[in-house]
Amino acid sequence: MREHVTQLVSTQTKSDFDQAIRLATDLLRADELVGVPTETVYGLAANALSPLAVAKIFAVKDRPRTNPLIVHIADWNQVEACVQQWNQTMDQVARAFWPGPLTIVVPKGDRVPTEVTAGGATVALRWPSHPFMKALVKSCGFPLAAPSANRSNALSPTQARHVMAQLEGRIGLVVDGGQAAVGIESTVVDLVSQPAAILRPGMIHLSALRAACPELAWTNGSRTSGQEEIHRSPGQLKRHYSPQTPLRVVAWSDQAMFEQIVKESGVPASEITVIAYESVPDGNGFRRVSLIPHDAEAYARALFSELHLSDQAGGQLILVEEPPRGPEWDGIRDRLRRAAYPGG
Ligand code: TXA
Ligand code: MG
Repeated sequence: MREHVTQLVSTQTKSDFDQAIRLATDLLRADELVGVPTETVYGLAANALSPLAVAKIFAVKDRPRTNPLIVHIADWNQVEACVQQWNQTMDQVARAFWPGPLTIVVPKGDRVPTEVTAGGATVALRWPSHPFMKALVKSCGFPLAAPSANRSNALSPTQARHVMAQLEGRIGLVVDGGQAAVGIESTVVDLVSQPAAILRPGMIHLSALRAACPELAWTNGSRTSGQEEIHRSPGQLKRHYSPQTPLRVVAWSDQAMFEQIVKESGVPASEITVIAYESVPDGNGFRRVSLIPHDAEAYARALFSELHLSDQAGGQLILVEEPPRGPEWDGIRDRLRRAAYPGG
């Protein structure tokens, strides 16, 4: 499916930015798709109110139609237009964290086509903080449905060139808005279920959310083990966000322990890429060894880039040193767990 010559445009100067807004708005108004920067990861945007445009997202990504899309809005009128009901908890949570890396699942309004919600009665809404995305939604005048701009099940893009690598030829335009500042996908919170629950952890974590929604539960797929629950938010599918190379998350305290892990893997060092967090091993003979930043925010920002680079290094195994525990690490640990599945 190579139907397009993909244009990659910058937003570095004011005139570049304005020109990119014009190009993107024209395409979106014509029911075409555009690769756009957001603060979490790059998105593949379409007019959320056009079933024809939304259908193209599923085709370009090879995304199962059972997986609903997030609708991006940029003002309170659009929120009102997209929802059927809006209660005090929704208002509190939204006002505490929007614009930002938080998606809330609420009852769907009639204007949102069922193609967006995979036939469901709820809609996932997010008000992004990235200046380009905010300006684009305003310029279009309609909300934008946008999943992460990767092929289904592959690594999310945090730089424009990651989008080009996966979608060049499949869409007409990719807008470069720089490195995504957050780096992992938004936290998804279901405010329809009782109690409200986190469906996908992100950098807005449980303890921060509880300030606005005290009864919030942490589920991430574990609330019910049934298929039905998993299909409600397929981001919970175990294998997701995966590099092509098998990945394992392991803990080591010193060089000897690290060498033992390498030995047991059965893979020669020259075929192994290492992403260290604290105990940087002696890099001799390894395909690539990198040190990822120490605080959770910087770690999240670097994570997908490191995984993209590890994939490009082309070895047989990626070893990731286990990051710490604690609520601010939940989103990161979740992405690593899914990247590793089923290998461990
Ligand atoms: O940060 C993000 O959320 C990025 C940027 C582009 O906004 N988008 C993103 O979209 O990650 P996507 O499609 O890759 O992930 C959306 C997640 C999926 O796990 C999907 O199942 C869930 O949100 N979702 C969407 N609508 C839902 C709904 N009505 N109920 C439950 N889960 C929903
Ligand atoms: Mg995704």
